[in-house]
Amino acid sequence: MITARTAAELRRHADAWRAAGERVAFVPTMGALHDGHLALVRRARELAPRTVVSIFVNPTQFNRADDLERYPRTPERDAGLLAAAGADLLFLPPVDEIYPPGDSTRVEVAGPAEGLEGAKRPGHFRGVATVVTRLFNLVQPNVAVFGEKDGQQLAVVRRMVRDLHQPVEIVGLPTVREADGLAMSSRNALLAEEDRRRAAVLYRALEAAREAVEAGERDADEVRRTMARELSSEPGADAEYADVVDAESFQPLDRLPETGRVVLPVAAWVGGVRLIDNLQLEMAETTLEPGRSRTEDPVPAGAERGADDE
Ligand code: PAF
Repeated sequence: MITARTAAELRRHADAWRAAGERVAFVPTMGALHDGHLALVRRARELAPRTVVSIFVNPTQFNRADDLERYPRTPERDAGLLAAAGADLLFLPPVDEIYPPGDSTRVEVAGPAEGLEGAKRPGHFRGVATVVTRLFNLVQPNVAVFGEKDGQQLAVVRRMVRDLHQPVEIVGLPTVREADGLAMSSRNALLAEEDRRRAAVLYRALEAAREAVEAGERDADEVRRTMARELSSEPGADAEYADVVDAESFQPLDRLPETGRVVLPVAAWVGGVRLIDNLQLEMAETTLEPGRSRTEDPVPAGAERGADDE
């Protein structure tokens, strides 16, 4: 695996691959890699003969300095995992390679970026859209792979790529979970042992909602209340939101439709760590074929546990 730290080094390799007619798949990350990231890399390798992975803890998407400061960083371990997973190139730039001195350009997405994470973390999606655009410009991938765990981010990236005619296909991958259902996230590494146990309440809230929807519930407020009730059953968790939104616009719904894609996003604080998760529902499947739209089954007990992601 090649490690490139500058845009020029990255370009040299990516240009050569393109010149040889090889498609390039890209997985942007902030490092502290876990099995969820490695699933993205595996998918990327199926999609193109060349896979580029970036590790860049993007300062512009953090709205709190202490959060940026304590974000887990494990670059040596990450590089070993990526080499073993078969990535061709790791792009590991310093901050001024992505944000050159005097930098003054930002990418602002409205619509799906406005509510939920956008409202709770002002400027977050401006930072995400800006860095993802810069990384796309540098790597010039044919296809980029993102996790569904950051469901709103995926909707924002899809909208941005469409609106700006960015020539890249976006592929979303189901969330990878721990044995108790907790979504793998780089932030899980920050949880104390007892809080780690409590954190599974987010998954239980989503499962309670899924059961309600599969039993025929279509009133979105009722589904929101089901999730809120489950979240409040865990005294160590402090819920921020539990919503029902359209998968593309991320606008709140009054009723769940009979067909189409719906996302149920949740956010909660557990032991001083802010966690997010979501359930993706394909409504026609939910009605006709219960089970197919379930959150991905948790990995078997004893399977390797990752550290985390944003
Ligand atoms: O999902 C993440 O890890 C980050 O938001 C991303 C897409 C790498 C942009 O910094």
